[in-house]
Amino acid sequence: MSAAAPIAAPFLLGMMRLHEVPELHAPARLADWLEARLDEGLAWFDHADIYGDGQGEALFGAALRARPALARRVRIVTKASIVTRERDASPLAVKHYDSSPAYLTAAIDRALARLGVERLDHFLLHRPDPLMDAEATGRALDDALAAGKIGAAGVSNFLPEQWRRLQAAMHQRLATHQLQLSLDHAQPLFDGSYDALLADGLAPLAWSPLGGGRVMTGPARPTLLALAAERGVSPAGLALAWLRALPGQPRPVIGSLRVERIVTLQADAGLALDRPAWYALLEAARGHEVA
Ligand SMILES: NC(=O)c1ccc[n+]([C@@H]2O[C@H](COP(=O)([O-])OP(=O)(O)OC[C@H]3O[C@@H](n4cnc5c(N)ncnc54)[C@H](OP(=O)(O)O)[C@@H]3O)[C@@H](O)[C@H]2O)c1
Repeated sequence: MSAAAPIAAPFLLGMMRLHEVPELHAPARLADWLEARLDEGLAWFDHADIYGDGQGEALFGAALRARPALARRVRIVTKASIVTRERDASPLAVKHYDSSPAYLTAAIDRALARLGVERLDHFLLHRPDPLMDAEATGRALDDALAAGKIGAAGVSNFLPEQWRRLQAAMHQRLATHQLQLSLDHAQPLFDGSYDALLADGLAPLAWSPLGGGRVMTGPARPTLLALAAERGVSPAGLALAWLRALPGQPRPVIGSLRVERIVTLQADAGLALDRPAWYALLEAARGHEVA
């Protein structure tokens, strides 16, 4: 079995919108873009089978096939378990979650084929499925790990009791939890779920770390602008520093594919945030001071 690769990057690059950016669709263009990110030290890419209904992974795979040396350098996170209405083969055509071994095993094989890589560094269950048979799902993940098809297994959008039920049925440890976390969505810091993932040894990945852009336009904007100017960083860079100040140093999964924004966020990634600034941003985002 291959060991889980540690996520050593200031942030991951989310591929949710790759299918919406035609400038990056030619394999050689995307290969250039990927090579530049890799040369900057950004090797981790976050996918899901539903991004563009498989198109995100397929475009990425076409670029790797066009420049095979890149396939050895990229690190892949991908997710599955959401079956869209369009993909449901039943007469009900209903959006649902599928955590069955048959579905997940086939989803892993499909992702490997689309991406053209030998293994998925992290494979995550995208959403918790109330119908999950933990023993069966856990065995499917353990088997994929043992076969070397995935380097690590994890979850996304799970509550602590949901990942614990799965973990209890597995031999291998779950490695990551990808959760929504930002100044725009700080709830996991106050309901115990963030503490639970740290206590259980899961590495946190923060999706929508800028709230899809809302962090910079919402109520925290004036404070973000003032503190960012004082510290000589960008407001978005400051918003990511707010996340990284947390214990466990959650890795943001950013959504922008714009080179200038990615370069800025990387340049700002060394900023350490002091406690008053952290709380000032929280207060501004929530509109009230802590109790
Ligand atoms: N596990 C899950 O359930 C789940 C759910 C949602 C997303 N995700 C993952 O998380 C990734 C990121 O999600 P997200 O796109 O919502 O994240 P985000 O980084 O919070 O938001 C990105 C959005 O912010 C905008 N933005 C505005 N100003 C920006 C600035 N200065 N710097 C950077 N971006 C700026 C971007 O616009 P431009 O694009 O125009 O730059 C983009 O539309 C996705 O790609 C996906 O991989 C996972």
